[in-house]
Amino acid sequence: MQGRFHIRTFGCQMNQHDAEKMSNLLHHAGYRPAQAPREADVVVVHTCSIREKAEHKLYSELGGLLERKQQRPDLVVGVGGCVAQQEGERLLRRFPRLDFVFGPQNLTHLPALVDGARQRHRASRTDYDDDPQARFELPERHPEYASPTPGRAFVTVMEGCDLFCSYCVVPRTRGREVSRSSRTILEEIRELAAGGVVEVTLLGQTVNAYGRPRPGRISGEMPFAGLIERVAEVDGIERIRFTSPHPIFMDEALIRAYAEVPQLCPHLHLPIQSGSTRVLRAMNRRHTREDYLQIVARLRQARSELAITTDIIVGFPGETPRDFEQTLSLVREVGFCDSFSFVYSERPETPAQRRGLRAPPRELALERLQRLQEVQRELTLAAGRRRVGERTLVLVEGAGQRRPGQLRGRCPHNRVVNFESLRPPPAGSLCAVDVTAATPHSLLGRSAEDAPAALPLL
Ligand code: 5AD
Ligand code: SF4
Repeated sequence: MQGRFHIRTFGCQMNQHDAEKMSNLLHHAGYRPAQAPREADVVVVHTCSIREKAEHKLYSELGGLLERKQQRPDLVVGVGGCVAQQEGERLLRRFPRLDFVFGPQNLTHLPALVDGARQRHRASRTDYDDDPQARFELPERHPEYASPTPGRAFVTVMEGCDLFCSYCVVPRTRGREVSRSSRTILEEIRELAAGGVVEVTLLGQTVNAYGRPRPGRISGEMPFAGLIERVAEVDGIERIRFTSPHPIFMDEALIRAYAEVPQLCPHLHLPIQSGSTRVLRAMNRRHTREDYLQIVARLRQARSELAITTDIIVGFPGETPRDFEQTLSLVREVGFCDSFSFVYSERPETPAQRRGLRAPPRELALERLQRLQEVQRELTLAAGRRRVGERTLVLVEGAGQRRPGQLRGRCPHNRVVNFESLRPPPAGSLCAVDVTAATPHSLLGRSAEDAPAALPLL
């Protein structure tokens, strides 16, 4: 036994999934997970740098850990993820007790970094592999590795981003766009399905750019819509999701997939960022407000019940009251079922930062955020209420948080459903649920099995 590890993860689903890969790698190296961080011999802080606030989480976390290391010098502390990539050796210089730093392209080096640290070698790995496919080549699931999400799995299909939205740090932290070969993706999914996975979420920073030819890089062999069709053919895969797509790659074939591939879930998270074409241009989003609305209309023609969610940034430099009103009107026009909204945060070495663009005052941005979130709350609740009375299929995740005995899962539209059941189904199974009520954050329901049987006809 090598010792126990704990990974503290911040950030997006790609980061969550990378943490799963890291956990599996450490299992293969003989480490086992610690129940609590205090019991761990190795702690990895897996960071996000999308906004300044996310980056600060590292510093508050690291402070406590390195203090503990003072009392327990054999404790190994490493930093991974996007802040690690962004700051690299600077982190080692700033925190003399920190053992190692590694970026998202260097996951596979984690066990070696931990071994090195135990022999007092401090190291920073933020280089890019010569072979960009190497990062996708990871060992199979270790028999003792327990998936944190029974029945569901994330599968990385591409990484990195070549689009350079002017606010975004990701091209810097995650590097250039690389598509994984479809052969290895499908192999992984077949294996997952054989192990009981019924739902896969295909992951990538601009996931629907999958397979597009990039100079000097392999193309992934097929376009994204083709990949979805192949995934749908895998026995046992009943639900397919993907995140996050970019509007400019919502092509005809992908829209058609919503009409033709029943396994493709009726939910799409399609970031818009702003409802004003002027701001979208300043953000280098490469599409207009009208383009987005047209994509939404075509998607709804293909699948009328489609639930659409989005990401929005308020207070981008130059955003006028009129621009902001356009965002509000777009949110209403599309009728997003949910949205994640953020105040613009300047990130190091992004095009917006380099141009020295000045954002509106923070109080103004916060006021806009509040107004936007108020509009969204109403839309979310209205969307939930429209579903009361419906019978839906929930993929069970485990115990609900609202009441003892309650279960929690997600419907195909990706809403959280808290429900009661006289015979609780196991996590990872699909359960028919009658929706009885909607709250701002979830739907409430009752297992369809418990519904009173129709009265026999006399
Ligand atoms: N400031 C605020 N929000 C940001 N996002 C990305 N970069 C920034 C930034 N610099 C938001 C976008 C993106 C989501 C993941 O985070 O809305 O879609
Ligand atoms: Fe955060 Fe973006 Fe990195 Fe994900 S890819 S961890 S959201 S900075």
